[in-house]
Amino acid sequence: MELLEIDKIVRQSLSEKRYYHSVCVMKKCEELAKKYGIDTQIAKKIGLAHDIAKEMPDSEKIKYARENHIEINMVEKKHVGLLHAKIGADIARKKLGFSDEMCKAISLHTTAGTNMSMLDKILYVADSTGEDRTWNDIDYVNILIEENIDKAVIYLINIEIKDKVKNQKMIHVDSILARNELISKIM
Ligand SMILES: [Fe+2]
Ligand SMILES: [Fe+2]
Repeated sequence: MELLEIDKIVRQSLSEKRYYHSVCVMKKCEELAKKYGIDTQIAKKIGLAHDIAKEMPDSEKIKYARENHIEINMVEKKHVGLLHAKIGADIARKKLGFSDEMCKAISLHTTAGTNMSMLDKILYVADSTGEDRTWNDIDYVNILIEENIDKAVIYLINIEIKDKVKNQKMIHVDSILARNELISKIM
């Protein structure tokens, strides 16, 4: 599906604020795709569509996952919001005609995971570093992205894990596996 059509569907599925976030992620994905020699159209499409399921009510997320044979693990059962990544990937495949590699990036954009491709990493870091984000360490993460994108992914996973520990939340196993894999790679 063409970017303009995707844009129309995403806009209909999201609030203005979330749509703006999606456009910011799209722009960041484009910038990083150019830097890392990835197809910019593909990167833009996944950036724009990555949160397509974000605002689906939790009860609907569970229903959608069951009806579409999406596995719900122990952590996702407790933190249903996490499912927006897997559901988003499923919608992107069925409704937007995205390829396997594009759907995988959407599926991993919240937790990260093992065997991440450059496209997966680009979306993962773009989600936290688009123009709409104003958090403390953003400049530092942007420096890491310039230096070595794996280091940026690790840094963002560390932030996630620290937050989960602080707030007594469960940690998704995919984040731990991704972190271990990337740390062993850069050491
Ligand atoms: Fe998301
Ligand atoms: Fe997002």
